[in-house]
Amino acid sequence: MDRWRTIIEPFRIHSVEPIRLTTVEERDAALGAAGWNLFNIHADDVLIDLLTDSGTGAMSRDQWAAIQHGDESYAGSPSWFAFLESVQSLFPFKHVIPTHQGRAAEKILFSSIAGPGKIVPNNTHFDTTRANVEATGAEAVDLVIAEGRDPSAIHPFKGNMDVAALDDLLTARPGDVPVVFVTITNNSGGGQPVSLENLRAVRAVCDRHDVPLFLDGCRFAENAWFIKLREPGQADRSIPDIVREMASLADGMTMSAKKDGLANIGGWLAMNDDAVAERCRNVLILTEGYVTYGGLAGRDLEAIAQGLREVVDEDYLRYRIRSTAYLGEALDRAGVPLVKPFGGHAVYLDARALLPHIDPLQYPGQSLAVALYREGGIRGCEIGTVMFGRHPDGSESPAAMDLVRLAIPRRTYTQSHVDYVIEVVAWVAERAASLTGMRIVQAPPALRHFTARFEPLPS
Ligand code: F0G
Repeated sequence: MDRWRTIIEPFRIHSVEPIRLTTVEERDAALGAAGWNLFNIHADDVLIDLLTDSGTGAMSRDQWAAIQHGDESYAGSPSWFAFLESVQSLFPFKHVIPTHQGRAAEKILFSSIAGPGKIVPNNTHFDTTRANVEATGAEAVDLVIAEGRDPSAIHPFKGNMDVAALDDLLTARPGDVPVVFVTITNNSGGGQPVSLENLRAVRAVCDRHDVPLFLDGCRFAENAWFIKLREPGQADRSIPDIVREMASLADGMTMSAKKDGLANIGGWLAMNDDAVAERCRNVLILTEGYVTYGGLAGRDLEAIAQGLREVVDEDYLRYRIRSTAYLGEALDRAGVPLVKPFGGHAVYLDARALLPHIDPLQYPGQSLAVALYREGGIRGCEIGTVMFGRHPDGSESPAAMDLVRLAIPRRTYTQSHVDYVIEVVAWVAERAASLTGMRIVQAPPALRHFTARFEPLPS
């Protein structure tokens, strides 16, 4: 298995999409028009799009074939039953509620169980998860272990929850915590996995305090692969078996099928509790659709059902995690500061360490992300003070870290694309001292990173 060093993509290309090559001048113009916000750039003006791994992967031949089986019956479609069977084969929760994507599942769940005075702990909330908790008037707290907040700390499971801190919170706020969440893998903390041992410990604390435990399962298969590789005693288990154990430790989950569902859209909310499921289904019917399709077409349900079978394939997961590490290792050799160990779906550049001359409130992550786009047409995503620095009361403070995430769409780019990314990032990093900070000139009150407009500060 490990005889050859070269990581080959375990697929051949069946259909191609053109990439439009652009010049620095064209990208400068695009940046000005976009208010230096990469979310505002026309995707045709991007060469290598590493903005997100969400919904951007390539589907397989068998997924496209499954789409042809899509049955668009309003109620009780065979495609719904195919989806249900596929979800429950990995996550045997009693109730599965289909949604158009992950945040819809979050919105439905938190509007049913959170609210003013409540507090929701998570290892680290993803931005939409936090926003959906806060939108109900509840508080969102992040309780990842200390190593998970330190970009350079080496730990095999940096996504783990701080179990003692969780126990303290549940003791201090009895009755105020409607659910404990664990995000696998911990996206906002660098795509870091959570161990089975940690999940078992979190489960035990939740049991002691009689609070349900939910998984944010977006990248469950990547998390399971890390468990197989890194957790003592797990090497010989199959991925579906590890996934089912993760599920067995929880009372429910939210899921974005745009990640490890290998689909372009979709998600679900699942749980064992009958009463909460009933409340959630009522909201679902109001906001998403009938209970057997949620916000999805029958064809989407089919694509997800097939995607879930493919994502637990070991050849795929080995390639997926190795090829992300290939990018990380090359950037590390080039001296670029990074979050380590490398995440499953992304490599995170430590912009605060690379740009110590830029104050966190002048957004070093945004500055670096803009430079990568300007120089090489690479679109990454700031995960730092722009995304997390503004609080519900309107105040602003530096986020825990200022990172730029280079997220790798699944099965989409080849090794030469990644080699190009390595060359561009290393070039920009060598000239980091010449980058300047940014200023926000316009921003909405919540989730400002999507629509804020910026201006570069003079050097
Ligand atoms: N939870 C996590 C951990 C996520 O990474 C995401 C999405 C969501 C929930 C929400 O799911 O997008 O389907 O509504 N993350 C994407 C990203 C957007 O780029 O990391 P969604």
